[in-house]
Amino acid sequence: MTRGDDVTMKEQVVIVTGGAQGIGRAIVTAFAVTGARVIIADINEAAAAATAVAQRQATGQTIEAVPTDVTNVESVQAMTTQVIDRFGRIDVLVNNAGWDTFSLFLDTTPALWQKLVAINFHGVLNTCYTVLPQMVKQQSGCVVNIASDAGRGGSMGEAVYAGCKGAIIAFSKTIAREHGRDNIRVNVVSPGITNTAILHSFYETEQGGKVIDAITRAVPLGRRPGEPEEIAPAVLFLASEGARYITGQVLSVNGGLTMMG
Ligand SMILES: NC(=O)c1ccc[n+]([C@@H]2O[C@H](COP(=O)([O-])OP(=O)(O)OC[C@H]3O[C@@H](n4cnc5c(N)ncnc54)[C@H](O)[C@@H]3O)[C@@H](O)[C@H]2O)c1
Repeated sequence: MTRGDDVTMKEQVVIVTGGAQGIGRAIVTAFAVTGARVIIADINEAAAAATAVAQRQATGQTIEAVPTDVTNVESVQAMTTQVIDRFGRIDVLVNNAGWDTFSLFLDTTPALWQKLVAINFHGVLNTCYTVLPQMVKQQSGCVVNIASDAGRGGSMGEAVYAGCKGAIIAFSKTIAREHGRDNIRVNVVSPGITNTAILHSFYETEQGGKVIDAITRAVPLGRRPGEPEEIAPAVLFLASEGARYITGQVLSVNGGLTMMG
């Protein structure tokens, strides 16, 4: 993992949605070890608080949990206002919160589509809507959205989720165009299969487990899923000074599973 000797985010104020566990938790750690002050905006209040305490002790940095439901714009606005009141600025927004369940499209229901779209797509719209005005005011800022290779190449059993992740990519590129003149950069990290709760949930169905096993066998680097700590450095890089001329881009971190042109 990037240790902070080559990247510094010292004193920067970073919001990580879904930072309580999985990839989000690794992102929180990666920013904290480089000196950032990190806000964990997660719906799981207990897990977010526990992660904040553990990572504070591990890194010695300011890490705070602010209970947030990204599907609810009032909740997201309240979190944003709290962060601005407390720190006076927002330097980085990482939209990481997400959810999925394995189901072939014809076995899904409109109620499930709504849940998937609310968390995976509206969640990103809500945070960008409330945070970008502060970044415009500052004339600086950086957004890193976590998509998925499902949104780049499609993935069996993830039709609506893949649609949301594809939408995140198109949305990110558009926001990057609209806010380049405000010195705000917007990029996307697109993980492949990664060893977290979402991936484990696919094994709840026989077909889901078989699909993941087949994908795992096709990963050129090690025939294994990625670890959250292997995704986080890409997010850190895109938020760092070294990426100051990079915006509107999508970076897959997937062990070479897909190689997009
Ligand atoms: N694990 C994978 O294989 C994989 C692959 C590609 C992309 N991703 C993406 O990576 C991101 C992180 O997922 P993960 O694998 O770490 O999953 P995870 O389930 O371990 O973590 C997701 C986090 O999001 C939070 N969350 C869920 N709904 C929320 C809401 N409404 N408001 C606020 N927080 C909410 C959860 O509480 C949890 O802490 C997601 O965007 C996911 O789509 C994961």
